[in-house]
Amino acid sequence: MKRIAVMTSGGDAPGMNAAIRAVVRAGMDRNVEVYGIRQAYAGLLAGDMELLTSREVSGILQRGGTILQTARNEEFKTPQGHKKALRRLNEHGIEGVVVVGGDGSLRGALQLHKLGVPVVGVPASIDNDIWGTDMSIGVDTALNTILDAIDRLRDTATSHNRAFLIEVMGRDCGYLALMGGILGGAEIVITPENGITMEEIAASLEDSYVRGKTHAIAMIAEGAPYPVTDLAKFLEQKHIGFEIRLTILGHTQRGGSPTAFDRLLATRLGVHAVNGLLEGENGSMVAQVGREQKFLPLVDCTSKTRAISTQYFELAKMLSR
Ligand code: F6P
Repeated sequence: MKRIAVMTSGGDAPGMNAAIRAVVRAGMDRNVEVYGIRQAYAGLLAGDMELLTSREVSGILQRGGTILQTARNEEFKTPQGHKKALRRLNEHGIEGVVVVGGDGSLRGALQLHKLGVPVVGVPASIDNDIWGTDMSIGVDTALNTILDAIDRLRDTATSHNRAFLIEVMGRDCGYLALMGGILGGAEIVITPENGITMEEIAASLEDSYVRGKTHAIAMIAEGAPYPVTDLAKFLEQKHIGFEIRLTILGHTQRGGSPTAFDRLLATRLGVHAVNGLLEGENGSMVAQVGREQKFLPLVDCTSKTRAISTQYFELAKMLSR
């Protein structure tokens, strides 16, 4: 291969720029030109791509977001979109593609592979919901942002004898809520996986109040079985002792400079993806498994569900006394 391309797709994740940089510089090391496709699959269909030189990826390692931008696109999912994508890649002489993104983006990568384009995926999503990899790019940074928020909210909660409901992202996955809860010292964690009822939450927070706690933190995944606003109203009506306040962290979790962990993960996965692509890997995702990077079939990574270890749920409960 003499020319490959890289794109970032789906929700942005801190560390995507570090991955782009790694792909470009690993390509240069192997005498391969790396094109950057702007705005993911939308840019691919529009032919919006150009050569990335070493200078273009200089000074981006520490920046959140993605210099290539990202977008969600429906046309790529159609047969017409497939033809257009192949045409654009041929026009630009692109012989392989590295797709950096979450599960939807990796499904797109699998589609490209099925169309005959050599593809390697790199998992990047703050949700940590991608099967096969221990961690996805962006998770660690998002988690640190969440911990910073919990620490700040606990200060004010304690001053006022309040319970804070903190909603975090994660789509259908409770990883960020659960880890944020364990590492931020929450009293209770509500995720799509653990099925805790509003009654149980009220009882637990009331118990914390009665036992003399000056604050309580309830971590709620956005995919929880009920909207956090309904939960807040329910708890207010229950008069559990604490005043209730609600904070939705939202997209603050997606921004910010990547942590050392995310920079290293993105760098290693990016370099590995290029080396794999040049050595014949195709239709695979590069995963971090223990201390190693491994190639796993995209078909598995996009069809299997990543389960959170039940040990973490037990840990959260045991430590919240
Ligand atoms: O997948 C990443 C994520 O941040 C999810 O946690 C969240 O549900 C979703 O993206 C939000 O998407 P958008 O940026 O389109 O609002």
